[in-house]
Amino acid sequence: TNNNRQYVIGVSQCSEDIWRDKLNNELVMSTYQHDNATLKFASANDNDKLQTEQINQFIKEGVDLLIVSPNQIHTISSVIDKAYDKGIPVILFDRKTDSKKYTAFIGADNYEAGHEMGHFIAQQLKGKGRIAEISGLKGSSPAIERNRGFMDALKAFPGIKVVSRRYADWLKQKGEDEMDSIIARNMPISYVFAQNDRMAIGALQATEKHKIKGIKIVGIDALPVPGGGMENVRDGRLEASYIYPTRGDLVMQLALNILEKRPYKRDNYLKGALVTRDNANVLLMQNEEMNKQTARLTNLHGKVDTYLAQYNHQKVYIFLFSVI
Ligand code: FRU
Repeated sequence: TNNNRQYVIGVSQCSEDIWRDKLNNELVMSTYQHDNATLKFASANDNDKLQTEQINQFIKEGVDLLIVSPNQIHTISSVIDKAYDKGIPVILFDRKTDSKKYTAFIGADNYEAGHEMGHFIAQQLKGKGRIAEISGLKGSSPAIERNRGFMDALKAFPGIKVVSRRYADWLKQKGEDEMDSIIARNMPISYVFAQNDRMAIGALQATEKHKIKGIKIVGIDALPVPGGGMENVRDGRLEASYIYPTRGDLVMQLALNILEKRPYKRDNYLKGALVTRDNANVLLMQNEEMNKQTARLTNLHGKVDTYLAQYNHQKVYIFLFSVI
C-alpha cells in the first residue's frame, strides 16, 4: 500500500437528520485512524436535483471516491453511472439505485427490518387486527424493501389486514399529517407501522393531539440519542423499533480497502436488531459506556478542535453550495 497518498472522499447524503449526523460523525472519527483520508460532505435536503448537482460537483473536483446515499432509486442513477464510468469508485450506503454501476454497497438489510417489524406486530396482535403503514419516500430503496419484508411477514397471519398505506417521505411532520388523515377518516386501526422513528413520533403526536387511545406504534432506526427511538421505546411511547445501524467506521474501512486495493466484498449487509421495552434500557446503558470511551479516544488523539473546525467549515461550504 501507498501510505503517503492523500485521498479525498466525497460524501453525498440525501438528507440531514440525527441518523445522518451520527453516520457523518462516525466517518469523521474514522479519519483519526486513517490520516490519509479527507472527507467532503454534501447534503441534499431530500432533493433529487440538488443531490445530482452535488455529485456532479464532486466529480468536477476530482474526488478519489464517492460515498453516496441516493435519495431515490431512479433519479440519482445517471449521475452515479457517470462517476462510475469516469473510474471513480462508488460506495452506495443505506440506499440503493436501480443501476448495477457501483463498486460496493454497505448497509442494513431493509427487507429484514420490515419483516421483523411485521412479525413483531402480528405477535403483539395475536394474529388479529388492522394496521396502517406509514411509509418513507416512495422511490427510496429502504421504503420499497421495508414494505416488501413487512407484507411478506404478514402473509402468515391471515387475520391481520393492512388497511391503509401512506407516504410520509421519512419526515416527522408528514408522519403527523398522514396520521391526522387516518384519524379523520375514522378508520379503526390498532397498530401503526411507521418505517422510521421520526414518522412514528409524528404519528404518535397526532394520536395525542386528537386524544386517541389504543393505537400502538412502532418505528425503525432506534437511535440511542436524546429524543431518538431507543429512548421512546424505553419510555413506552413506541412499542418497538429496530436498530438501523450507521457504522461509519465500516463504511470508511470499505472505502480505504477499495482505494488501497485491498480485497473487499461488493455487498455488505450490517446486522440490525429489534428493540423493545425489554432491552431498550440495557442498550442505552451500553451506548453511554461506548460514548465515554469514544470521548476518551478523541481526547487522546487531541483532534477534537481541528475536527470541529473542519467540519463547521465543510458545513458552511455545503450550505453555500446548496443555495447556488
Ligand atoms: C435518515 C433516514 C432514516 C431511515 C433511512 C432510510 O435519513 O430517513 O430515518 O431509516 O434514512 O434510508
